[in-house]
Amino acid sequence: MGLNFQLIGYPIKHSLSPWIHQQFLRKANLEGTYVINEITPSESVKERIEQMKRDNVDGFNVTIPYKQEVIPYLDKIDDSAKNVGAVNTVLNKNGKLIGYNTDSIGYVRSLENKYPSLEGNQSVNILLLGAGGAARGIYYGLYQAGYKNIDIANRTQEKAVEIAKLGSRATTRIITLKDAEHDLLDYDVIIQTTSVGMKPNIHESIISIREVKPGTIVSDIVYQPIKTDFLTQAEVAGAKLHFGHTMLLYQAQYAFEIWTGETIQMEKMDKELQQILE
Ligand code: ATR
Repeated sequence: MGLNFQLIGYPIKHSLSPWIHQQFLRKANLEGTYVINEITPSESVKERIEQMKRDNVDGFNVTIPYKQEVIPYLDKIDDSAKNVGAVNTVLNKNGKLIGYNTDSIGYVRSLENKYPSLEGNQSVNILLLGAGGAARGIYYGLYQAGYKNIDIANRTQEKAVEIAKLGSRATTRIITLKDAEHDLLDYDVIIQTTSVGMKPNIHESIISIREVKPGTIVSDIVYQPIKTDFLTQAEVAGAKLHFGHTMLLYQAQYAFEIWTGETIQMEKMDKELQQILE
């Protein structure tokens, strides 16, 4: 039989998750499959989830556009999913479906794994660019991990205000994208959380990066292309880079851990995934 993991979303034909989780299964020496289970907009998410339950799937991932829609059909959701308001990982625990959000902690893991000196240095000044769903998850993950100085710059200020409510004891300034552009020297970590710059719009960048402090880490969650225009500007300014595809790997690592208890090490997979994406 083996373990049975699935991915729901639309469109997901080109998802990298099957490749990642099949590698994990192999590395953990576990028998099992991870397959895509696409739900087109005209189909019922509720029915598909009930079917997966009847089929006894061990767990599934949820991606766009169903990360919020699945919530009412689950038996329980943990604090991360509750606070972020989105589920990307579901565990079938003895017939009960439990929802988690591994994007948030996954992002922090990817960052701290690449830059271990950040861990234990949570007084660093962080700037988030954007205030969509991804920003919300990352803000929550950082806040939970102990980072308290997290500013948010967004085109629509109200959305940033909503996110800041997640971090009741955090010092968060809400600023404009123009201000962010001028104040980049204030930050140790700068994180681009929107889809701006993603293929095919590879020449777009949410702000211009002209100057950063030496040692500043600049991160972009976009991974197609691997090195966005935003990251290229950061590199020219002397920043250390953090690539978006690593978030994909670490959210998957944490999901696999929830499902199987196994934590996969993946320095090698990082390079392999880069090659697939290049
Ligand atoms: P999500 O993060 O929910 O997946 P997204 O579309 O990738 O969604 O990103 C949404 C975020 O990108 C929002 O913060 C949005 O700004 P608004 O809140 O003002 O709408 C931001 N965003 C998208 N396109 C943008 C652009 N061209 N310039 C600036 N910000 C942009």
